[in-house]
This record gives sequence, structure tokens and C-alpha cells, in this order.
Amino acid sequence: MAAPPLHLIGIYPGSFDPLTNGHLDLIARGSRMVQRLIVAVLKNDSKRALFSVEERMEILAEVVRPYPNVEVGSFDGLLVDYAASRGANLILRGIRAISDYEYELQMALMNRRLKPELETAFLMAGEAYSFISSHLVKEVVSLGGDVSGLVPPTVEQRLKARMKRKE
Ligand code: PNS
Repeated sequence: MAAPPLHLIGIYPGSFDPLTNGHLDLIARGSRMVQRLIVAVLKNDSKRALFSVEERMEILAEVVRPYPNVEVGSFDGLLVDYAASRGANLILRGIRAISDYEYELQMALMNRRLKPELETAFLMAGEAYSFISSHLVKEVVSLGGDVSGLVPPTVEQRLKARMKRKE
């Protein structure tokens, strides 16, 4: 049996469109579990994206500044390939409710099939964040609702600026 790795390099992948306080909670907790944590933004050119990949990375770079072992990257193609290229040996994902479980289980099993040595670990979302999703934040903002406390201040400001431009 192989000895456990002495050096855990975590990768936390996602769309982060936009980053929420739930994501930030996971980054803070994840950063205490690994030596280095790479927050990796998926480069998807979905027309429905609110922020460009560059903007999302800019937001992330701003909010991870207090965490010296956290860095921000972006990827396309397979997550397992990007993880290998960055030397990561642990995928971190958050689970809010049982409804997340099925999707997360499928991804974890597929990733394990693609690269068995890359483990996935799940953190349960903090209870204060378990109802927050990027999708709902986008919907509430687009309908004029208040999302303060659900997203970091920099995201809130950018969302407001985006909505003003649309008026
Ligand atoms: O925040 P999201 O949208 O739930 O994150 C999904 C993400 C980025 C983790 C997932 O879509 C992903 O890993 N995409 C990369 C493509 C890939 O590797 N697919 C095969 C394994 S599931």
C-alpha cells in the first residue's frame, strides 16, 4: 500500500459565476487542509455567463489575497488533466444538500475512473450558506433583489454596476 502523500495540493474547480460567500467559505476551510489550494475557473464560453472568465479570476484573486497558500487558475478540457499539470493530488468540492450529491458523485466517480490517484474530498457547506447558489444569486439580482451578505462585497458592487448598465 502506498504511503499517504506528505504534501497535499488541492484543486477547487468550479464556474464561480459569480463567486458566492459559500464558495469563499469553502476556500477558507479548504486552505487549512492542504499545503496549497488552487481555485480553478472553468473556461466555458456560455452565452449565459454573467462574468467573463477574466472577471471571475480577477474577483477570485481579490478575495483570496488573505490566504497565502491559495492561488487562482483557469482551465479548459478535462479537470484531471489540469490537476495533473498543476501537481494537484486532491479535488475539493462542496456539498450543500442531498440534491448536490448525485451530480457530485457522478463527477467524482468519472474523475476517479480517468485518474484513480486523484482523490475527491467533499466539504459540507456551512449551514449559513447551504441555500446560496450562483444561479439563484443571478436570478435575484436580475429581478432587482438584494444579495448583500450572500456574495463578497466586490461581487455585489460588480453586480450592481452590471445591472445599472442594463437599465
Ligand atoms: O461550479 P460547477 O459549474 O458546478 O463546476 C463544475 C466543474 C467545473 C467542476 C465541472 O464541470 C468540470 O470539472 N468540468 C471540466 C470537464 C471535465 O473534466 N469533465 C469530466 C469529469 S466530470
